[in-house]
Amino acid sequence: MSKADVLVPQWTPTGRELDDLDLLINGCFEPPLAGFVDPADAGDAASVTLVVSEETAEVAAGVGFLELLDPEGAPLASVHLDGTWDAGAGLQGIVGSVEALAPNQFGPFRRLHLSPAEVHRRQKRDSLLAVPVLRALTHEDLDQISSTATAKGLSPLLLTYVGAGMPRGLSGPALVRATLHAAQTLGASAEVVAVSVADRGGGLDQAESTANDWLIDSVASAYADAVLRLPAEGFGQLPDEIAAIVAKDRPPRDRQGVVIFFTGLSGSGKSTLARALIDHLLEQGERTVTSLDGDVVRHHLSKGLGFTRADRETNILRIGFVAAEISRHGGVAICSPIAPFESTRQQVRHMVASAGGGFVLIHVATPLDECERRDRKGLYAKARRGEIPDFTGISSPYEEPRRALKVDTTDRDIAECLHDVIGALITEGWMHA
Ligand code: ADX
Repeated sequence: MSKADVLVPQWTPTGRELDDLDLLINGCFEPPLAGFVDPADAGDAASVTLVVSEETAEVAAGVGFLELLDPEGAPLASVHLDGTWDAGAGLQGIVGSVEALAPNQFGPFRRLHLSPAEVHRRQKRDSLLAVPVLRALTHEDLDQISSTATAKGLSPLLLTYVGAGMPRGLSGPALVRATLHAAQTLGASAEVVAVSVADRGGGLDQAESTANDWLIDSVASAYADAVLRLPAEGFGQLPDEIAAIVAKDRPPRDRQGVVIFFTGLSGSGKSTLARALIDHLLEQGERTVTSLDGDVVRHHLSKGLGFTRADRETNILRIGFVAAEISRHGGVAICSPIAPFESTRQQVRHMVASAGGGFVLIHVATPLDECERRDRKGLYAKARRGEIPDFTGISSPYEEPRRALKVDTTDRDIAECLHDVIGALITEGWMHA
């Protein structure tokens, strides 16, 4: 049976998995790795995994392959299935070699994503000194690279590690810009290459983050026989131009994108507090501010959604998506939906973090009896009479938020509550007085 005759199983991997796919296709692992592994028998390479839904794994196992799509839905690669493994939670790991279907063309500095083979067409691997670059390079780093390269008669190959979650504390493009500048100061033989190495978690600066360590070395060794690992923390000063690139990429918190997310029961005072905060920021006049209020969002972005758990999750994830984009552009997004589920709030926190934004969760913790006593919209009375199903606090749960600033509006006016919120935001650096 040819591929054309069968239903083609397709799957869109996560950012980390797509980065690994890029490395696999470009031959960036040393020792070489042909495809995604079963962590149980892959040794050091145990983190190079691909996980799909059980249904997708079943169809893929039936036809012997799986097509991987980029987030826009274009086929990138095919995995030839060698097996599956149980990843728990209704998910299956896919084991098999990968074959590129189309080049991955997008992403900043794509032209610098050269494979080891492409680099070796110009420079032999035994003439290169591969230097994993995970942060902006200081004068001391540059001296060390320069003296090591000179002593060994090698050309520095600065490998910028810019996959999902990398580098820490700087955007990928800024790391590349800073490293391009560093290469200039090292002289004509220095070259910059970008590699899609995604963070495995655990902290790059911690010795125990072995998956990261293995990956960093494995990729560097695919490019050159000689590898120079710099200390995790930079010592000494950044050259002025590099310091300027870093400063522009990471402004102080009160100029960074941030999502301020109010959660609480209907009638708790979320919208009122959010509006007061918005007005305050507008009076200061230094930030762009977007309001994403629960009731308002339900008139356009989430029109037609109801109050089942699934619909509320969809509503909150839509708010989170928009808020994350606002934060990506350096704006302030102020959200004020009920958002009763902790897992959904956590998902929003992650969406915002991956967009590079700050996230502040504020629990407007006015107790239910006070919200019900106010009952400005008359909804609690209706809910008690059974006229509104799934009403938060009455017939639908509100899960206590974790890692949140708590504000109770009972017997306090808006100015007092706003004062607390602003005080916390100033303490955390997200606002100035
Ligand atoms: S959320 O749960 O999805 O976050 P959201 O903040 O958008 O809720 O909408 C809540 C608002 O919808 C309330 O302030 C109230 O005016 C109205 N509403 C209508 N039905 C319900 C319901 N069943 N539960 C809670 N709020 C409801």
